[in-house]
Amino acid sequence: EKGGYDHFMLKEIYEQPNAISDTYRGRIRVAEGIIKMAGIDDNLAKLLNAKRIIVIACGTSWHAGLVAEYIFEELVRIPVEVEYASEFRYRNPVIHQDDVVIAISQSGETADTMAAIKLAKERGAFVFGVCNVVGSSISRETHAGAYTHAGPEIGVASTKAFTTQITVLSLIALKLAERKGTISNSDFHYYLQELERIPEKVKDALESNDHIKLIADTYKNARNFLYLGRGYNFPVALEGALKLKEISYIHAEGYPAAEMKHGPIALIDEQMPVVVIATKKGHYEKVVSNIQEIKSRKGKIIGIVTEGDETVKRLADHVIEIPETIEFLTPLLTTIPLQLLSYHIAVMLGKNVDQPRNLAKSVTVE
Ligand code: M6R
Repeated sequence: EKGGYDHFMLKEIYEQPNAISDTYRGRIRVAEGIIKMAGIDDNLAKLLNAKRIIVIACGTSWHAGLVAEYIFEELVRIPVEVEYASEFRYRNPVIHQDDVVIAISQSGETADTMAAIKLAKERGAFVFGVCNVVGSSISRETHAGAYTHAGPEIGVASTKAFTTQITVLSLIALKLAERKGTISNSDFHYYLQELERIPEKVKDALESNDHIKLIADTYKNARNFLYLGRGYNFPVALEGALKLKEISYIHAEGYPAAEMKHGPIALIDEQMPVVVIATKKGHYEKVVSNIQEIKSRKGKIIGIVTEGDETVKRLADHVIEIPETIEFLTPLLTTIPLQLLSYHIAVMLGKNVDQPRNLAKSVTVE
């Protein structure tokens, strides 16, 4: 059942190339430049006329929502707010008829997300679901939706659900951007081609597994970790930290790299491993100067870099390379080494990777 892997989590990490292509297969025709998604096509006017998009979700799905915020605002030019379902539902949120709510949930059973959907519906918003589990409560409660087609995710730590959520949300953004004319036709075609190349590049990223294992061994006894990223990779930093916390029980924090100087920099000393996402596209120079700040305080730097990088390699204690892609798709690649790093650390510490203490796969309590 684990397909020869020691844990479901590892199997699911390795399933990502296929899970991502399963998510877009049948929905895109790259040569013709077509994206077909019933839930979008049937509600196109509503979505194109949205004055605002509110994303509601919890945990890893909330992180996927944050990535989507960057993608939608860049490509579709619609303002996006990303809300924890549990916060949204317990205040008195301002919701308008022309707001579109996107609810993201792997399980489709998360109680807080469900309650937030009901509230948004009562207030007249159009609610679109992005779920993995077909026929789940949330997929039935929403007005329309798109499934992620990641296949069953058993490990409590969400992996392939995250990357396929980003894939679906990218497809939606691309479709709306093309219809709205907020991206050029040539960019639209180019982006679709790049999306189709992601599964191969995820395979490449997985090749670093042995190298990541060595890094895991070096830092497995650290008490704290920091994860830093900017732009599209800021949510990836949050996600990397969450993965480490939930399965290894090591305290970790994700931060936007530039926020470090507003507080967390005080934590940095020779005991502190700092994972920095420093890909070529996406504020590279700025991230390099953040790395210098960490280095001068003797923090240990693990850089996630684009293949062939020289600058970060000189500064960092370790680098993990990923292939190059267009900026908004980088989270699909930068996430991979962070998943593997937390996996190996947890295994080395003897933790129950697939069923960490105190956690359930779907959180059906409020
Ligand atoms: O099924 P959902 O996507 O609604 O679940 C939301 C969170 O409970 C979930 O992502 C949780 O944070 C994971 N264990 C993270 O790995």
